[in-house]
Amino acid sequence: MTVRLSEFLKKSIVISGKKVHGRLFLAPMAGLGHIGLREMISEYGGFALLFSGMCSAKTVIHENRFKSTVFSWRDQELSSLVCQLFGNSPEIMAEASMRIENEGFFGVDLNFGCSVMPICKQNCGAALLKDLSLCRQIVQSVRKAVKIPIFVKFRTGWEDNPRAAVKAARVFEDAGADALVFHPRVAPDRRTRPPKWEYIKMVKEAVLIPVFGNGNVIEEKDCAKMIETTGCDGVSLGRIAVARPWIFASWTNGFIPDTDTYLNCFINMATLFEKYFEPVISVKLFKKFARYFAANFCFGHSIYTGIVRADNIEDIKNNILKHLKPMPEVSLNPNMNMLL
Ligand SMILES: Cc1cc2nc3c(=O)[nH]c(=O)nc-3n(C[C@H](O)[C@H](O)[C@H](O)COP(=O)(O)O)c2cc1C
Repeated sequence: MTVRLSEFLKKSIVISGKKVHGRLFLAPMAGLGHIGLREMISEYGGFALLFSGMCSAKTVIHENRFKSTVFSWRDQELSSLVCQLFGNSPEIMAEASMRIENEGFFGVDLNFGCSVMPICKQNCGAALLKDLSLCRQIVQSVRKAVKIPIFVKFRTGWEDNPRAAVKAARVFEDAGADALVFHPRVAPDRRTRPPKWEYIKMVKEAVLIPVFGNGNVIEEKDCAKMIETTGCDGVSLGRIAVARPWIFASWTNGFIPDTDTYLNCFINMATLFEKYFEPVISVKLFKKFARYFAANFCFGHSIYTGIVRADNIEDIKNNILKHLKPMPEVSLNPNMNMLL
């Protein structure tokens, strides 16, 4: 099983004429999937594509990549980096996508899945699923504007009905999307109830373009099960990739973390935050990351609290050394209550 899974995860797939070297993606995560986390993940390897956290289409058009915490990247990651956009204007989404294409990203991902209040109130993210005709116009407009692969990330919709997801999937495909990433949860449920993987199978069977599954894949056996039971073309990993940035390398190349891995990863992440963000932001973002990383340890809550009791990265690093030497016991799986 494990051997077959790793072979599958390493198999290339062509999306809109462009080769993708594998089947495991880093899911878009605002506040977590930034340039720093992506550099750390890249150190271990094993992923096929990395998705940025959602960027406002309006902002992307004029954004300075060297000042933004979200719309920023390393040139060497561009060939496997997809920028996610949120917005609701077909014209503005198209203009932002053109910038993404011109900057050299692998592709653009359109957000029809985010169900947090500040986004839905602007009629963006999952709110758009209430108006499939606008969804169609957005994808068509982006399709006309760019040649790079267009991904669509979406969820079931506003009622727990797989037919709604299938209908939306067909609209996206028909409007010109090249691949779908489907998170089978109803809006506005964030992550309280389990996602319904059986809906992924229905979406996969309804369209010809590749479909990637997402939601609650934590262990290798979850990944194998999602692929086997839904027939999806690959898997997009969210929270587990923050807790274990080496997860892609583990599942594709058999990388096994040791005690040094945990300590080094924690310290090196702190250094990356210092490198990429100004001091106040780096502490704020580090704390977000630390919660996920500390979830790896038994008594992760108290380790987390001890580490983040600081207001600069140097103190944070000292706290890490204090709490990770000697190495605390690692749980088999991260504490899901800490992966908010
Ligand atoms: C902190 C956080 C931020 C997220 N931000 C985004 C986002 O910007 N765009 C998006 O499409 N999904 C976003 N998501 C949803 C994830 O991409 C993913 O669908 C969800 O976490 C389920 O996958 P998982 O169980 O592998 O974590 C976010 C999730 C989390 C936990």
